[in-house]
Amino acid sequence: MEKTVVELFAGVGGFRCGLNKVTLINDIVNENGNWKFVWANQWEPATKSQEAYECYAKRFGKDDVSNVDIFKVDKKKIPNHTLLVGGFPCQDYSVARTLSGSKGLEGKKGILWWAIVDTIEAKKPPFLFLENVDRLLLSPASQRGRDFGMILRSLYDNGYAVQWRIINAAEYGEPQKRRRTYIVAYHKSTKYYEQMKKINMKDIIVKVGVFSKQFPVKEKEIAYNIVNVSKAMYKDLADLSDNFQTQFYNAGVMCEGKIYTAKIESACNDVFPLRKIRETQKVEDKYFLSDDKIEKFKYLKGSKRIPRIKPNGDSYMYSEGAMAFPDNLDAPARTMLTSESGLSRMSHVIEDYKTGKLRLLTPLECERINGFPDNWTNTGMSDKRRYFMMGNALVVGIVAKIGIELEKIIENED
Ligand SMILES: C[S@@+](CC[C@H](N)C(=O)[O-])C[C@H]1O[C@@H](n2cnc3c(N)ncnc32)[C@H](O)[C@@H]1O
Repeated sequence: MEKTVVELFAGVGGFRCGLNKVTLINDIVNENGNWKFVWANQWEPATKSQEAYECYAKRFGKDDVSNVDIFKVDKKKIPNHTLLVGGFPCQDYSVARTLSGSKGLEGKKGILWWAIVDTIEAKKPPFLFLENVDRLLLSPASQRGRDFGMILRSLYDNGYAVQWRIINAAEYGEPQKRRRTYIVAYHKSTKYYEQMKKINMKDIIVKVGVFSKQFPVKEKEIAYNIVNVSKAMYKDLADLSDNFQTQFYNAGVMCEGKIYTAKIESACNDVFPLRKIRETQKVEDKYFLSDDKIEKFKYLKGSKRIPRIKPNGDSYMYSEGAMAFPDNLDAPARTMLTSESGLSRMSHVIEDYKTGKLRLLTPLECERINGFPDNWTNTGMSDKRRYFMMGNALVVGIVAKIGIELEKIIENED
């Protein structure tokens, strides 16, 4: 089996940087891995400018990257590939039966998950590697677990088994507390599927699965749940969409629609402090905070109680606790958001190495927090967009480690 990859929702290329351990030296990209990226797609619906695509195309070349709305792509024309990768957003995955009933099911418009399903149906890649936010497993609030249940059921309908883990990157030696759901699926035509089918599901989670080898966990589970999304339980996706609700934990396995999910804890003690990625050279003046901004940040990050009014007119007291100010350099960074650098409670504020004065993180430090090569997004976009790209991106080091296991698995296929 060739190590060919298609990257959907490619952004600035987090999957490719991780899988191929990419470096950038004097603006020259080196792909140091064995994965051959045959096609990628990236299109930003919210803006006319397409900076993420331009960054990807500048770094990896224009030839095999498309800048078209994925819903307009004829999925049959996507090149054949062994591994489909993509980071898709947490949206509403519910479906309804069409009124006539004859056309089958209808999901809400613009839900990117269905573009992944269309690609799987058209191309049947043997392996998938997907990423989403951690709350995916709990959403929506009114029907806990339904959205992830929809994902698992659509993968089961297409002949895949699944392993998933929520990984907090900081618990495995990365410089950021970024919790994301990583999903690996393998088709029933693969040898790996046959191997895993014979193994106890708990052992897959804590010992032998694709995640537990690179991200060790304590053997004792804190809680577990057994779930079933197969045809025997739910007639079709619409049935599941209407009636499914469950507790998913931070790790799990699905095979033939049967699911074992467990709450587990990291057994790794590596800590990567923010201090280690802080710039030690002179930093431009624009990143430093005026006295006025320091006062505003102090207020935003301080503890407060604010009287507020609910939509129904009732009053209540909104309260929040104090956050570290400035950020603790001996701990990993907090989760970086797309709004990083704005005057917001969640933006990081650190002490500058050379001057000791307070300042924002630079875009370059944000790239380091995600493990991208220095200046990866320095491709002509504004600082604001560089922060945005990193707020959307993956932790490259986590992808790289999962990639090591995927490589071994694929090398073992015929
Ligand atoms: C969570 S981000 C993925 C980031 C990426 N993994 C990275 O490391 O940079 C999702 C991406 O999907 C893109 N996107 C959103 N809607 C799209 C559509 N209809 N077609 C193609 N891409 C889309 C967004 O522009 C965004 O870059």
